[in-house]
Amino acid sequence: MTAEQKLSAARFLDTAGAFLKTGYFDECEPYNFTDDEELPVNAAAYSAVKSVAETVAVYCGEAEYCADSEIPGLNKDAGNAEAPDSIKSIKPTDSIKSIDSIKTTDSIAAIADAVCKCTNCGLHTTRIKAVPGEGVENPLVLVVGEGPGADEDASGRPFVGAAGRLLDKMLLAIGLDRKKNCFIANVIKCRPPQNRDPYPDEAAACLPFFEQQLAALNPPLILTVGKIPVKALLGTDEGITRLRGNWKLYHGIPLLPTFHPSYLLRDASQKRFAWEDLKALCRRLAEIDSAYAAETAQIRAGWNS
Ligand code: URA
Repeated sequence: MTAEQKLSAARFLDTAGAFLKTGYFDECEPYNFTDDEELPVNAAAYSAVKSVAETVAVYCGEAEYCADSEIPGLNKDAGNAEAPDSIKSIKPTDSIKSIDSIKTTDSIAAIADAVCKCTNCGLHTTRIKAVPGEGVENPLVLVVGEGPGADEDASGRPFVGAAGRLLDKMLLAIGLDRKKNCFIANVIKCRPPQNRDPYPDEAAACLPFFEQQLAALNPPLILTVGKIPVKALLGTDEGITRLRGNWKLYHGIPLLPTFHPSYLLRDASQKRFAWEDLKALCRRLAEIDSAYAAETAQIRAGWNS
């Protein structure tokens, strides 16, 4: 067995054990494996274990969100979370601006550079680092958060604290990963002091950066988490409990609002609703992208609704 194979098996056992014990992933022990001199004869058995490990890892992610989600009646709020029917819930009065109306010739890197130098509102005086966003440049989904917290302010990276770890697990449960197929950005690029909600002038000063990112990335779908991004993008004051699971359009791109992972950390009973939204997003993406559809076929096959 190689050191890498041993590490993969140990990580699997650690993850499965921790998940079964507490329902959450714990940090694993640091290991220092070395390669065996000869590979085992039973390499096929190892591959089988590895593929089970990968499958369980994905389902562990799912299990964390889907507890009770299949109980009839529990998800009545999620009624129109499904696409494409859900798109019909968009009212004719909803604004459908074209993405072409956003002017940008800048690359994601150039936009990030401009964000880091920005002094357009008072938040630049209190930030440690601006947080432009991160991910792949041709994402399947643009995930949109509120604004940086303390961890993000210190690191310059989005969603790296406890909420970020939960967000990563939520995305992983439907085959999404900021290193592979999505981009994560906030509508507000600098941390508001004490994590207060951004003032309207701060939100207005930051929106052009988000719009330029949107034009540069041109994602097929947008997932917003929490009430601030829906308010900033769609101008609605409606509560997130009513908004979540209802598809909207932003510059012609389907946008699905869901709960913020910080809220889910505070109230785990709401995870079932977020899970319904994630499933709806996954199904819609699978209709759009055949490679993603193939990758997530097994996950989707396990869902009753
Ligand atoms: N919450 C957010 O909305 N964004 C972050 O980047 C971190 C926490």
